[in-house]
Amino acid sequence: MTLQFSLTRESPESAATPCVIAGLYEDRVLTSAAARLDERSGGAIKRLIESGDVTGRAGNTTLLFALEGVAAPRVLLVGLGEQKKMDAAAFNRAAHESARALKGLPIAAALSTLAEIDVPGRDLGWKLRTLALAADHQTYRYTATFKPKDKPKSPQIEALALSVAADTAAGNKALGEALAIAKGVRFARELGNLPPNICNPAYLAAQAKTIADNRSGVTLEVLEREDMLKLGMGSLLGVAQGSANPPKLIVLQWRGGGAGDKPYALVGKGITFDTGGISIKPGAGMEEMKFDMCGAAGVLGTFVAAVELKLPLNLVCLVPAVENMPDGAAYRPGDILTSMSGLTIEVLNTDAEGRLILCDALTYAQRFDPQVTIDAATLTGACVVALGKHASGLMTKDEELADQLLAAGQTTLDRAWRLPLWDDYQGQLDSGFADVANIGGKYAGAITAGCFLSRFTNGFRWAHLDIAGTAWDEGRKGLATGRPVPLLVQYLIDRCG
Ligand code: BES
Ligand code: MN
Ligand code: ZN
Repeated sequence: MTLQFSLTRESPESAATPCVIAGLYEDRVLTSAAARLDERSGGAIKRLIESGDVTGRAGNTTLLFALEGVAAPRVLLVGLGEQKKMDAAAFNRAAHESARALKGLPIAAALSTLAEIDVPGRDLGWKLRTLALAADHQTYRYTATFKPKDKPKSPQIEALALSVAADTAAGNKALGEALAIAKGVRFARELGNLPPNICNPAYLAAQAKTIADNRSGVTLEVLEREDMLKLGMGSLLGVAQGSANPPKLIVLQWRGGGAGDKPYALVGKGITFDTGGISIKPGAGMEEMKFDMCGAAGVLGTFVAAVELKLPLNLVCLVPAVENMPDGAAYRPGDILTSMSGLTIEVLNTDAEGRLILCDALTYAQRFDPQVTIDAATLTGACVVALGKHASGLMTKDEELADQLLAAGQTTLDRAWRLPLWDDYQGQLDSGFADVANIGGKYAGAITAGCFLSRFTNGFRWAHLDIAGTAWDEGRKGLATGRPVPLLVQYLIDRCG
């Protein structure tokens, strides 16, 4: 369940809430909420600053109990860093750190005053959305595959009130957007986190069915192996043939726009587990390849949010869901696959499978005559080397589309960074035995993967997001992040004028 969000005009010192959150900058600068709490409590906060217990350093949090003169039993102070350095990133950090501090407390609700902070270039709606999304992100728990607990011993945070000077339509709209994006992000995270023995292609198709069943205006079609055979999807089926779990091609449609409006098409890589196939991956860390369906989870989460918001546009969401396994029937290095587009592909590495399922899905997408096609995929380790864990890789030849997607990333701080798709790189995909090879050699692996996909999107407005670095957090306990749901939902919201 997502958190509940509301706007409130209650003052920090008198609000009846289990916890009030207030910010303070470094160098003894209090926000107005912190100043009011300080005044009511006879200077308690300033005394803590004098003693050095509270510094205002960015990201620091301090929990105070039973401040005299303050109705709430808890006050959570959040360090904001230097006031002159306050910007979107610093605000977002404060939003996340305050929510992280709430997570461990035995309380069901809290009130945040952080929306009063001035953030250059960002309006109130942005601040409310950022606070709400950060809180929902930090309070998400993955529980699906643990032994069920009897009953939580203490309450857990369920509701966040955000204090504002006035309860405006713009503020409420921002909260509505935050709630929808939060639902999409949670949906994507949960799918990403589930283990590959549960979240297989059939499971993804079943999830798509629950999306369609509960919502009017949504239709679902799931193509089976036989359907794909008839369509000539030899590339996707090549990857699928080594797995006992049959492939699915999920097609969800939302008709929120006019009957004649061309749809936006979203395509997500849905490799539910990537062993590498016959070009098998090393054992260490292979379990992370359960996240190789995070592109699929991302476009499904985006779809959920778009429908929740009833966006006035048409949307088609395509998910090729396949498991990449090695067995006696598996495809091999050297195999030549014939894609639905007719192009033949020489398989030089069965671990470069994402592009092989995406190319047929991209070809299939064109029958919906989309105005724009965007794919999201955990496509290459090379993208992680190039951009690390902070930015998704964006590749497109369309300048306007690039600008729009980069802007949506900046708005949501779910940022992307562009890599070139120049034709200079295309030669790396030459093959002596087929129209194209499925790998491009050791240089620029993220770009040559994008170049491969570009062969199947000629003449279409198309962009590719490589989310290999951004879709999940590092480490054995790393969770799916839900990226790029915020970026994609924002892109669609922006298209609605
Ligand atoms: N799913 C992987 C990419 C990946 C690797 C994502 C590590 C996140 C972390 C993809 O299918 C893959 O194996 N790509 C290969 C391509 C290579 C064989 C050209 C890679 O990146 O090594
Ligand atoms: Mn692979
Ligand atoms: Zn993969």
